[in-house]
Amino acid sequence: MASITIRGLDDDLKQCLRLRAAGNGRSMEDEARTILRDMAAARSEAAPDRVALRSSAAQQPVAGPAGRRVLLIIGGGIAAYKSLDLIRRLRERGATVRCVLTAAAQKFVAPLAAGALSGERVFTDLFDPASELDVGHIRLARDHDLVVVAPATADLMAKMAGGHADDLASAVLLATDTPVLIAPAMNPHMWGHAATRRNLARLTADGITVVGPAEGEMAERGEAGIGRMAEPLEIVAAADALLARRTGETVDRPLKGRRMLVTSGPTHEPIDPVRYIANRSSGKQGHAIAAAAAAAGAAVTLISGPVNIPDPPGVETVRVETAREMLAAVERALPVDCAVFAAAVADWRVAQPGREKIKKSNGASPALTLTENPDILAAIAHRKAERPQLVIGFAAETEKVVANAQEKLKRKGCDWILANDVSSETGIMGGDRNQVNLITSDGVESWPPQSKDAVAGALVARIAAVLAGPPP
Ligand code: C5P
Repeated sequence: MASITIRGLDDDLKQCLRLRAAGNGRSMEDEARTILRDMAAARSEAAPDRVALRSSAAQQPVAGPAGRRVLLIIGGGIAAYKSLDLIRRLRERGATVRCVLTAAAQKFVAPLAAGALSGERVFTDLFDPASELDVGHIRLARDHDLVVVAPATADLMAKMAGGHADDLASAVLLATDTPVLIAPAMNPHMWGHAATRRNLARLTADGITVVGPAEGEMAERGEAGIGRMAEPLEIVAAADALLARRTGETVDRPLKGRRMLVTSGPTHEPIDPVRYIANRSSGKQGHAIAAAAAAAGAAVTLISGPVNIPDPPGVETVRVETAREMLAAVERALPVDCAVFAAAVADWRVAQPGREKIKKSNGASPALTLTENPDILAAIAHRKAERPQLVIGFAAETEKVVANAQEKLKRKGCDWILANDVSSETGIMGGDRNQVNLITSDGVESWPPQSKDAVAGALVARIAAVLAGPPP
């Protein structure tokens, strides 16, 4: 395993890495390795010899800016790291992405990272002779179907509103005749300042489309308010809608009129008021499925255990802690057409959690008596009334993945199971990628390793195929 040096990183990036690592229960070095491995995999997925794979049924994107050329202008803010993810999300949906990084953006993300993820040359200089000979800022401004500015800092917005053109990003934005989508991100005080309000009004009057910002915690410790950049999937959905509006296409919404529920994340089972039993589930796969289903037009209720990731856009999220709360929330969400149980529900809970914090007593360890939790998936799959047309479970296995999952399909009474190998060396638990086997009564399909978003998109496409036709 290659050795990793965390020392050279900027403090903000180090803090991001620390938070991500803590959230996934990994060391910072292991987290950095996972990120590098994901980047390498994304790069190799984009290589021409893998392109054929993307058209297989398991990889079919549901909706998105497929075949579009997107110019992504990355501004200088802490949210720039999310723009690297945005590159991947756009590419997963079949778009070509070229990046312009402002000078300030390069303080937060390296052009090399943007280049590796986009698979294209990255542009940084207005007076770059190679760029002028090659594409030049005028062609850069024209050769795309859409320009996305993410993060759009207060400064970039001011430049756009004032028609400045003293660097490559602002010159391109002044010269472009393609639609422009901006995703502002800044400190809440900057967002609320009269100057930014004026600039925003000017930009919208000029026909610029705006997505976000959202409310939430800022990078500055203890600060909260409106100013967080929209999540990458929200930006992709806005880009898609903007392009569709422009070309008069209708966005493909195969699940329009359908209702879905998705469970996600771990459950926490209390031992006493301060301690609990938990597991390493990040909720990434379940949340991605909820987001993909919503993007495909379904009315989605996401029932999530405690996670450190944002609520997906366009989804009603219900937060719960324990398995029993999750079951109650699932029952309240019925009836639905399709239910996907992606949560890693704790199998057991403590029979009698302490009312007060359990104290140490002279070296004697407390004995915890466990009792089994309700099996939510089996309970819903075996219902006579209000059983969803399609009930889908997950099987996280560390051995005999397919055989165990086939047995689970029968025992739980569900229609499909997505089975994956969660041995620690796969990096799937908490990671951004997944390799699943779709198990149905017809047999087993092994899907290629891909991002959790791509798995979600492929699953939603399959669900849509089964639920095709007008809602009953
Ligand atoms: O039995 P096992 O935990 O491996 O089953 C996994 C599947 O069952 C997942 O879809 C999970 O969401 C679901 N499950 C559940 N309630 C439980 C245990 C698992 O819904 N108590």
